[in-house]
Amino acid sequence: MAEILRTQSFVSDAARLIADCARESIAQRGQFRLGLCGGNTPRPVYFALAGMDLAWDKFLFTFGDERCVGPEDDQSNFKMAQGTLLRPAGIKEANVLRMRGELDPHTAADEYEGKLAALAGSDSRFVHDLLLLGLGDDGHTASLFPGTEALAEADRNVVANFVPKFSVYRITFTYPLINAARKVVFLLDKPQKLPIVEEITGGGSDYPAAKVQPVSGDLTWLVGI
Ligand code: 6PG
Repeated sequence: MAEILRTQSFVSDAARLIADCARESIAQRGQFRLGLCGGNTPRPVYFALAGMDLAWDKFLFTFGDERCVGPEDDQSNFKMAQGTLLRPAGIKEANVLRMRGELDPHTAADEYEGKLAALAGSDSRFVHDLLLLGLGDDGHTASLFPGTEALAEADRNVVANFVPKFSVYRITFTYPLINAARKVVFLLDKPQKLPIVEEITGGGSDYPAAKVQPVSGDLTWLVGI
């Protein structure tokens, strides 16, 4: 069942939610597998998180999606996370699984698929402890945009997805990987997106984000008001 948490302290509540999940995961499993989302919303959250006292060497960072650009490009989700979280928190390169947007999209997706498969262990697929997601005005999440092929992917964890809206490829997590997470949290700092959230949580929505339904994990919408 999804819960909607409305907050007037979005940044601090989001950072605290992530930190609490990290401490619990590390205490239980000795590691915290955190999937980062891109876009603008998470920037201040990542920066606040970087200032917290956490067992950073136990973190493993993945990216829910990436633009098909290099790591130095301003469009890169990796670059955004590098500047707001990874560098300020002193995260080692070995703790970060970067999607290589500079490669051919299908090659980059295949490479990332292999990285996650190698880390799945006894699970049928890689399990995130916490996966952060954003929500677009068109109801997309990660780079699962309306009407795109990746919405139908039922086996792979990561695919290259052509997005006609921007006439570009993106590399994105798929629903099977997203829904395997122990906890999924949507981060929204704009109350104007609440109607989309309410349509999705009310059931029957065909927005891409509506198909984020963790198989056995928790789903939370954290909305700044
Ligand atoms: C991306 C994100 C995308 C983002 C939403 C919301 O690569 O852009 O993964 O899914 O989370 O578009 O973006 P904002 O946070 O900028 O509103």
